[in-house]
Amino acid sequence: MKNQKTALVTGANKGIGFEVVRQLARQSFRVFLGARNAKAGREAAEKLKSEGDVVFLEIDVSSEKSIRAAAEEFARQSERLDVLVNNAGILLDEDKSALTITPEIFETTLRTNTLGPSLVAQAFAPLLKKSNAPKIVNVSSSGGQLEDGADGWAPGYCVSKTALNGVTVQLAAALPKCAVNSVCPGWVRTAMGGENATRSVGEGAATIVWLATDAPQDLTGKFVKDRKVIPW
Ligand SMILES: NC(=O)c1ccc[n+]([C@@H]2O[C@H](COP(=O)([O-])OP(=O)(O)OC[C@H]3O[C@@H](n4cnc5c(N)ncnc54)[C@H](OP(=O)(O)O)[C@@H]3O)[C@@H](O)[C@H]2O)c1
Repeated sequence: MKNQKTALVTGANKGIGFEVVRQLARQSFRVFLGARNAKAGREAAEKLKSEGDVVFLEIDVSSEKSIRAAAEEFARQSERLDVLVNNAGILLDEDKSALTITPEIFETTLRTNTLGPSLVAQAFAPLLKKSNAPKIVNVSSSGGQLEDGADGWAPGYCVSKTALNGVTVQLAAALPKCAVNSVCPGWVRTAMGGENATRSVGEGAATIVWLATDAPQDLTGKFVKDRKVIPW
C-alpha cells in the first residue's frame, strides 16, 4: 500500500515499545519493530502479526554500525518514514548516587539513552523528510526534569533523560517540518518500571501514540505527559 503510514519503534521487543507497536499497527501503520536481539525481535513481531502490519528490524541504538545498517535495510523496504519513536532505554544505576556511579555505567547509559536517539534521528532523517507530516517521539522521563531539582535516584539515567530532552529541542530546530517531542510515559509496569508501578503499558503508551498520530503538527520541541506540555 503506497499511502500506508510507516513507523519505527526502537526497543520494541517488550514493555512500552511493544505496546506502542501494537497500537500503531491497530491504526493501520506499517510498523517496524526495532530490537537489538534478533530472536526476541522476531518473536515479538510474530506475536503482533494478528494486530496488523508489523515487521522486525534489527537495531542496536548503542551501535553506529547497527543504526546505519538498520536505516539501509529500512530504505530497502520502505521509501519513507512517517514516525520515529525513540523508545529503547536502559536503567543501570538505581542503586548508585552521583558520587558512586561508575564511568562505565554513566557512559553506557548516555550512549544508549541520549546519543542513541540522536544517531537514529540522523540516520533516518532523509527518510523522515519524505513524509508530509513527520514525527519524532523521544521517550524520556520526568526523572530528567530539572524544574524541581533531583531526589538522588538513578543519577546517570536521569542525566541521560535531561540530555535527551536537549536532543529533542535541537532536533526540533534542525527539522522544522517535523514534530519532535519528548514524552514521559509515567511509572509503567515493565521490566524497567517493576510490578509496583502505577500504570499499565497501555496507559504508558497512550501519549506516545497520540504524539505519533493525532497531536497537532505544530506541537514541537516540547516535553509532554498525559497529552499536556510539562516543564523541562
Ligand atoms: N517503565 C517506566 O516506568 C518508565 C518511566 C519513564 C520512562 N520510561 C522509558 O520508557 C522506555 C521504555 O522502557 P520500558 O519500561 O518499556 O523498559 P523495558 O521493558 O526494560 O524495555 C526496554 C527496551 O529497550 C531495549 N533496549 C535497551 N537497550 C537497547 C539498545 N542498545 N538497542 C536497542 N534496544 C535496546 C530493550 O531490549 P532488550 O530486551 O534486548 O534488553 C527493551 O526492548 C525507556 O526509554 C524508558 O527509559 C519508562
